[in-house]
Amino acid sequence: MDLQASLYLLFITFTIIFSLFSLSLFIIRLNRCCNCDICTAFITRSWTSEFLNLSDWYTHLLRKSPTGTIHVHVLNNIITANPDNVEYMIKTNFVNYPKGKPFSTILGDLLGKGIFNVDGNCWRFQRKLASLELGSLSIRSHAFNIVVDEIESRLIPLFETVSDSNDAVLDLQDVFRRFSFDSICKFSFGLDPGSLKPDFPVSELESAFDLSSKLCAERGMSPSPIIWKIKRLFNIGSEKELKKSIKTVKKLAGQVIKTRRETGSGLNNDLLSRFMASINDDDYLRDIVVSFLLAGRDTVASALTSFFLLLSQNPKVLEKIREESGRVIGSDPEVLPGFEDLQHLHYLQAALHESMRLFPPIQFDSKFAMHDDVLPDGSFVKRGSRVTYHPYAMGRMEQIWGSDSLEFKPERWIREGEFKPESAYRYPVYQGGVRVCLGKEMSLVEMKCVALCLVRRFDVRVVDPSRLLRFSPGLTATVSGGLLAVVRRREVPEL
Ligand code: HEM
Repeated sequence: MDLQASLYLLFITFTIIFSLFSLSLFIIRLNRCCNCDICTAFITRSWTSEFLNLSDWYTHLLRKSPTGTIHVHVLNNIITANPDNVEYMIKTNFVNYPKGKPFSTILGDLLGKGIFNVDGNCWRFQRKLASLELGSLSIRSHAFNIVVDEIESRLIPLFETVSDSNDAVLDLQDVFRRFSFDSICKFSFGLDPGSLKPDFPVSELESAFDLSSKLCAERGMSPSPIIWKIKRLFNIGSEKELKKSIKTVKKLAGQVIKTRRETGSGLNNDLLSRFMASINDDDYLRDIVVSFLLAGRDTVASALTSFFLLLSQNPKVLEKIREESGRVIGSDPEVLPGFEDLQHLHYLQAALHESMRLFPPIQFDSKFAMHDDVLPDGSFVKRGSRVTYHPYAMGRMEQIWGSDSLEFKPERWIREGEFKPESAYRYPVYQGGVRVCLGKEMSLVEMKCVALCLVRRFDVRVVDPSRLLRFSPGLTATVSGGLLAVVRRREVPEL
């Protein structure tokens, strides 16, 4: 047998042994044996005969549960849609519910010590620094200028070109992902990947970043962490790919930081320059900024995608948004909104919140209990258990939103003509409590600008709007197969 054949045989033997090992681990893990209905349906995957997404099945179970909480014993996972429990986890007893090691190990190679992935003092330090920066008026107007520039120079020209072509179809999700990637890179690093340029180039950073987040999400879905950890140890399969893509992300981000150190940060207004003033360790700086890319990119793209789906399904809401914008900004669709105008668009603000109620970009969020505990609804939490609050299910609970909970009704957010926010524990789309999202205001500004500029100039009709959405597994809700829409220039009636 020649060397090549021996190596091939060795590889096959290793793969078979490794697969058997993984399978036995999976079985051992599930042997936290439980034959309750939920665990049986989970193990046999019988829920798939009735539901398209795991989140839909959990929603069904949570809606039926008298406490709004269920327990998937085989996963050692308590899942809750009960606002009292949510408030307790993310505010009252926050210290007992950190992100925990299981989560930080999954994302650790990509995010290092970045804010999204750490607890304790390291988190507290970054949180303080980032809240100061993101709260400042100058960075808010900087973010607004970035978004408006990306809309004017890329998004509108793209929609115009597509409208004028014979095949006026676009994948909205893909476009919004490109748009939000360009925006968050400019905001965080002062770097323009140009991914929304007319030929849709794929930047090295974007493809490496996408692959890294996808493969990290796959780690989270692996039956046991030991499986991916062994693959990482031997640098094989998806872990080999992940290592390579993370190396690219870190190299490119590191280059930007190095150049900025050389040229000085004086003229730049982005987050990196601001953090550079307080942090000397470049690896730490890189981790912080990469966390922002993850936090601010897919979330905004996901929210915009489902918003345009719901507008296609609800033309009356679309008309009301146009009416309101006409009143506040004027009837000329070419006029872009000013920063101040955005504060007066109550109906649009309500429509965006309503859309994220039904389709939250982060459908669920898990913490790991440090000590034994009891939740307000009486559920016992054993130390080390995973406790998940579920914004997707919460947005669909009759107990929270009433019997019309499945309907898209922006009016439910309006009182006496003005937008009235809901408690973050009933609507934890941006989390809430101690670790509430730091980009909430910025994301709303970004989404309002995109929504206004598009609905005032174009008719955007999703192809097959009644299709039920299947989501790809991952950190943020992504529609499997994208969301195709027909785009036409809008005929604005002469006054
Ligand atoms: C529709 C858009 C967005 C939604 C729904 C959203 C939602 C969330 C949620 C649920 C969390 C908590 C995650 C966790 O702790 O596990 C979070 C955290 C965070 N978000 Fe957002 N986000 C959005 C946009 C943004 C943007 C644009 C930025 C950046 C400018 C951003 C920056 C952050 C940061 C830095 C954190 C970590 C906060 C901390 O751990 O203290 N987010 N976001």
